[in-house]
Amino acid sequence: MPFTVTPLSPVMGATIEGLDLGADIDDQTLAAVLRAWHEAGGLLVFKRQHLSPEAQIAFSRRLGPLERHTLGKFLLPGYPEIYRVSTKRGPAGEALGNDQAGRYWHSDLCYLSPPSLCSILYALEVPRLGGDTLFCNTHRAWKGLSEPMREFLAERRAVHDFRYVFRLFSSFGAGDVQTDLPPVSQPVVRVHADTGRHCLYVNPGFTTHIEGLRREESDALLAMLFAHMDRPEYVYRHRWSAGDVLMWDNRCTMHRAVPDFSPDDGPRHMHRTTVMDTQPA
Ligand code: SIN
Repeated sequence: MPFTVTPLSPVMGATIEGLDLGADIDDQTLAAVLRAWHEAGGLLVFKRQHLSPEAQIAFSRRLGPLERHTLGKFLLPGYPEIYRVSTKRGPAGEALGNDQAGRYWHSDLCYLSPPSLCSILYALEVPRLGGDTLFCNTHRAWKGLSEPMREFLAERRAVHDFRYVFRLFSSFGAGDVQTDLPPVSQPVVRVHADTGRHCLYVNPGFTTHIEGLRREESDALLAMLFAHMDRPEYVYRHRWSAGDVLMWDNRCTMHRAVPDFSPDDGPRHMHRTTVMDTQPA
């Protein structure tokens, strides 16, 4: 199936036009999509999609096994593979999704081992203004460090903890946060299994500390890395349109939602599927 690929920015990202993700995509086309994805630094935007939950799940499964998100109350009823990111409320005032999802830099499911390979986020409704998502190209961020710093980080490991991020949010109830997920150790620099590129793999959302360092050393080093990764030359900002499907590679990117929009500008309502990796980071 033919499609066009248009780069979105020098940092990362490409737009795919002319491909219906709900159609039967043959293996050759899927391989071409994956090539475009790797060339674009792990971020593709598929425009003008109309995806049923079944179609989103079927496409996502082509990439790997799907996760059932640990925040169970935000799953789409009947479709546990779909995690809802939403500001909408149901008839009884109940949340139709997580309205605080991802408002901090993170890589999805880095607190699991194996972590996530990629995420697919489908925008059904977006506010008239704001609610963008930022993406960091973590390979470029790694390349931007000095050679001695890259050498120092090469063999280091860091701890990632699901519960860590909830210090940021007071509105989550006790039952919302799963407390029995043990912290996991991940490499600070990972080598991407498909591209061979080195990528920084720490983030402010879930990374608690670098193993083997004193607490103050770890805090200072992480603060330096987080400030470095946040530099505009490593970041692409996506302005959503309804019908956009974004597919990002959690091995070589991190992302965050921008909570700048007003409820007067309409809801932000999205369906996410999360593909698991089959090998450790
Ligand atoms: C997420 O982290 O999966 C949500 C990102 C977003 O809402 O823009």
